[in-house]
Amino acid sequence: MSVTERDAELVYAITHRGSPPEPPEWWRGAVFYEVYTHSFNDTMGNGYGDIRGVTEKLPYIRDLGVDGLWLTPFYPSPQHDNGYDVSDFKGVHDPFGKVEDVQELIDEAHAKGLKIMFDFIAGHTSDQHPWFRESAASRDNDKADWYVWADPALDGGAPNNWISSFGGRAWRWVPQRAQYCYRPFLESQPALNLRNQQVLAEVLGNMRFWLDMGLDGYRLDAIQCLSHDSELRSNPPARASENPSVGGGPNNPFKHQIHLFDRDVPEAIPIIRQLRRVANEYDPPRVLIGELADVDSSRLAPKYTVDNDRLHAVYDFDLINRAETLRDWTDMLRLRSRYLVPGSSLNVLTNHDSPRSVSNLMPRACKAGHRREAAKLLLFLQATLMGGAILFQGEELGLEQPHIPYEELQDPWAKALWPDFEGRDGVRCPIPWRHDAPNCGFTTSEEPWLKVPERYAEHALDLQEDDPESVLQFTRRLLRWRRTVPMLRTAAEHTFEDTPMRVIAFEREKAGESLISVSNFGMKPVEVTLPRSSLKPQFYDGEIALDEDRLSLGPLAFAAMT
Ligand code: NOJ
Repeated sequence: MSVTERDAELVYAITHRGSPPEPPEWWRGAVFYEVYTHSFNDTMGNGYGDIRGVTEKLPYIRDLGVDGLWLTPFYPSPQHDNGYDVSDFKGVHDPFGKVEDVQELIDEAHAKGLKIMFDFIAGHTSDQHPWFRESAASRDNDKADWYVWADPALDGGAPNNWISSFGGRAWRWVPQRAQYCYRPFLESQPALNLRNQQVLAEVLGNMRFWLDMGLDGYRLDAIQCLSHDSELRSNPPARASENPSVGGGPNNPFKHQIHLFDRDVPEAIPIIRQLRRVANEYDPPRVLIGELADVDSSRLAPKYTVDNDRLHAVYDFDLINRAETLRDWTDMLRLRSRYLVPGSSLNVLTNHDSPRSVSNLMPRACKAGHRREAAKLLLFLQATLMGGAILFQGEELGLEQPHIPYEELQDPWAKALWPDFEGRDGVRCPIPWRHDAPNCGFTTSEEPWLKVPERYAEHALDLQEDDPESVLQFTRRLLRWRRTVPMLRTAAEHTFEDTPMRVIAFEREKAGESLISVSNFGMKPVEVTLPRSSLKPQFYDGEIALDEDRLSLGPLAFAAMT
């Protein structure tokens, strides 16, 4: 596929984005709670969260007011990349429990009115997977073509200049085959060759395994990596600043290329269509939500969801990674309003791959002692922006990003790029359930896989339960209110021009209904002119006053008005 064809795909997607069909399906604009399995709740006493631990906390998750939950990988794995290096898709990693526990979790979630999704990693496996062992053994075995193999370049070096997202060459030399193997992430995560129909058929079979148990759908890992250029052409160079959507610190070498041939290639679309066909085999159809990373996602996302034969929705990292100034953010929101398909995108302010939102996006407010207000403001924004939302565990407690010393690092990405990049362990620290229990009630083990940061005791859930002004109580009020405004799930969005510095304001509109959302990110009071008078605040926090079409907002105050 040529570069021009790639652009044609994009133009096609944007011109075909259309309006969502009516009535909206449950997943459109839904709010999901992301459970990071390792760090949620340990009922087995081994220092890791587990499946039963999630089942035990389902009432808590339901009472937050979310539509469903997504669980990060719990499959057997050597855990080089915390479970995203899967060695068997049809099992459960011992410390997390058993397949029967998973069935119980699905059934219990449904009994509580929650939808439940798991992670599905279609693009790569662990190098401990039996498929890879066989494929790597020789050039002429039955699975010889199941991964992406290439001969060395004429000088003996790697076949092209591709770089792993985690830094370093994306090619690993495998002596048994005297060939290079492509691996877009860790050396131990070889990419599957999904163009091979036999491989794809096996992957689809793996998908059905959990769907057959009643699972409502999958969060699809790294959809930008489902395929790659068939001629293995080298990427052109880029200035690091041209790649703001890429994580891994300011100097990650991955940022120094335009990822034309190794990420987000058009050949992924036919693969995605096959995945969708499997989701459609079920009644009701199962749902596929894609993670789109490493690329300029706001522009590229629509092509993954148009035509009703691709993914149902996608989420990306643009809100997380482009936070240099609020002006940049407002520009980006404007861009997103134009490009994204209403109801088919999800707003994510943090997840298990990024720092905690309040520390990352609002460091000044945190330093000034307003962490709690800043956390509420971000949650409000997430709940009123166009699209659905994924709330990462602990965001409902307003947790801040802890610093993890080098000796305690677990994340291989951090180890590769330290000290440039602190990595993902901070956001992955366990949930503080009780302020006065060992490990804040996360585990009875003396050796949790990651320590509960000391400061987390003061944000513990039990303390927030008793405090009506807590972020937890606020989150419950917010999501309860959101449910009373169904248009928020699918309405289009129009970002206001000419708002004061440090203000984000937009209008959501659908079928004659409208809602205006205004937030003051600054520490000083502001006044905003609204497009009309006669508006009434429906949900707000902080100091606000409305006089005709003038809205005054105190520091970090916000309001939704109709
Ligand atoms: C995306 C996952 O969210 C991340 O945690 C993982 O490291 C990469 N995919 C590679 O699987």
